[in-house]
Amino acid sequence: MADHPSAFVTGYPIRHSRSPLIHGYWLRQFGLDGSYRAIEVAPDAFAGFIGTLNDNGFVGGNVTIPHKEVAFSLCGKRDSAAEEIGAVNTLWFENGILHGGNTDAYGFLANLDSLSPGWSERKSALVLGAGGASRAVIFALKQRGFTDIRIVNRTMERAQELADRFGISGGAHGWDAVPELLKGASLVVNTTSLGMSGKDELVIDLTQADSDALVTDIVYVPLETPLLRAARFRGLETADGLGMLLHQAVPGFEHWFGKRPDVTAELRNLILADMAAGKAK
Ligand code: ATR
Repeated sequence: MADHPSAFVTGYPIRHSRSPLIHGYWLRQFGLDGSYRAIEVAPDAFAGFIGTLNDNGFVGGNVTIPHKEVAFSLCGKRDSAAEEIGAVNTLWFENGILHGGNTDAYGFLANLDSLSPGWSERKSALVLGAGGASRAVIFALKQRGFTDIRIVNRTMERAQELADRFGISGGAHGWDAVPELLKGASLVVNTTSLGMSGKDELVIDLTQADSDALVTDIVYVPLETPLLRAARFRGLETADGLGMLLHQAVPGFEHWFGKRPDVTAELRNLILADMAAGKAK
């Protein structure tokens, strides 16, 4: 490892990324002489950026939208999660070879493990959305032995593609099927961007939801999305998505800086304070 290991997060745009805050917190906590910064790279410059990582002294970094699929194709080696999900969000070097991993599924599982211990004794899930985040969530649920996964998406072909890719028994459905699909689904996950600040609200009728259903959202701005609020009003258990962001960062930090960090209440509060400051601007 370099004397002053340097890592990055790249995306386009990247200015709203909170990853530098997260890794900066851990670097300070461990007293490490490393760095982590956001670097905006346009799609047509991405392959060139990745090709010169070593020369520029980077030990690795994170990759986010829209580069995750291209990063996948540029790695010399990939972990099994990346292979299954078809996207890479974490890069590191091992023996001079660029490795790519996907820690989104890990982050999803670790968040629920921490907020709702024992949650994965449930085995049936309703997954809203069929984009990149949905792939990671479905991979994660399959890893935990979920046998009944129902996918809902506006574009049916995408939902069907995912159902086929992961051999899903619960099938692919349109939004109008949600009330029926809620029956017997003990986990409900929103993986769409609906409900995020500035986007359309996610409006679903939870009347048919099981009373013991756990409802979670990968959107974490706002922390309590309209879906989570509606679930809380119905008395359902809820889990917000901020921890997914925090936990997915853990394996990368360990690869680059050699220490496995903890997701603490203090770190969570740091990000919440940043979100509140952003809103106040
Ligand atoms: P990501 O990689 O973050 O998951 P994505 O691949 O663009 O992003 O997927 C976004 C998801 O949100 C998709 O399921 C998308 O539905 P479509 O596949 O039909 O596009 C869903 N989504 C985004 N905006 C939506 C809207 N206004 N109504 C319904 N679904 C929406």
